[in-house]
Amino acid sequence: MNFPTILLGTAMWGWTVPRETCFALLDAFYGAGFREVDTATNYPINKNPADFRAAENLLLEWIQTHGIHDLKTTVKVGSIDNLRSPDHNLSKSFLLMSLDDYGYRFGSNLHTLAIHWDNRDDEAAIRSTLEALAVARKKGLHAGLSGIRFPELYARLNAEPAFGFDFRIQIKHNLLQSDYERYAAFQGSRRFLAYGIHAGGIKLDPAGYSPDSSLRARGGDTEVVPPRMEHLKTWLAGQPQAPSFHYAAMLYAAYSPDMAGIILGPSSVQQLKDSMAVYRSLREEDAAGLYEALKAV
Ligand SMILES: NC(=O)c1ccc[n+]([C@@H]2O[C@H](COP(=O)([O-])OP(=O)(O)OC[C@H]3O[C@@H](n4cnc5c(N)ncnc54)[C@H](OP(=O)(O)O)[C@@H]3O)[C@@H](O)[C@H]2O)c1
Repeated sequence: MNFPTILLGTAMWGWTVPRETCFALLDAFYGAGFREVDTATNYPINKNPADFRAAENLLLEWIQTHGIHDLKTTVKVGSIDNLRSPDHNLSKSFLLMSLDDYGYRFGSNLHTLAIHWDNRDDEAAIRSTLEALAVARKKGLHAGLSGIRFPELYARLNAEPAFGFDFRIQIKHNLLQSDYERYAAFQGSRRFLAYGIHAGGIKLDPAGYSPDSSLRARGGDTEVVPPRMEHLKTWLAGQPQAPSFHYAAMLYAAYSPDMAGIILGPSSVQQLKDSMAVYRSLREEDAAGLYEALKAV
């Protein structure tokens, strides 16, 4: 089996994840030999304008402090604020400006330029977005997609000779919810990166939520356990090794079809270490039987 890579996500940096923890996460992740990091212009999306671009600035500060040259950073662009508004700019000129800006700031640490949130169904407009990505490709970058409302339009245009991108596509994919079917036009090749594998920080037990829990900060309900989580909890407890929720979350993502990577969103170094330990153990063992059983649940 082609095992997916792992990426370090930054969506909560400068929000529920304090500055020192961001640096400690990078130390631990990089120190363990991993290189892929995911960020976006609008992280953290906490609706505080003062924090626009705060996550990428933390990442840059760490890169510069340590003189790092070999990080593989995915930057998702197009947002013009971090207010969770639908206002985006995916015009060719804006994307080329973003390309210059990120190329200058991240240098050799920039790996993928990704389109972040596209609700448009206008083929001509999407084509000009792809033209900007073609310029990025000439500079040696990969092209990515995240939060695309009409993936089939991207797939159709991508068949044109000028494009043919091997997109890296971020999809929400977890035990409760998945965007995989919506991206049917891109299925059949290993190009998907799963995010939200813990459903944004959901816990099996409401007592597990801390005051600054990620789910609560994002507006989720931490008082009620969804019926499917109750069912999963009972099922996991009945398995021979009683796997943890985060083991099941990673297993489900890692064994899903077409998955090239898993974007982690740890809020502490301990969570990152736990996730890396599960990742390493899954690489070693054959957990296909447990995956099939989990899928049935
Ligand atoms: N979410 C999106 O819409 C989205 C979209 C595109 C890309 N991404 C990328 O994907 C990354 C991850 O997304 P996500 O934050 O939604 O992922 P997630 O894994 O579903 O949620 C992260 C939360 O899960 C909990 N958690 C993480 N690792 C854990 C562990 N080992 N054990 C127990 N709990 C653990 C933590 O919650 P507590 O802090 O409450 O403990 C953490 O804040 C983002 O940082 C971003 O780079 C996200």
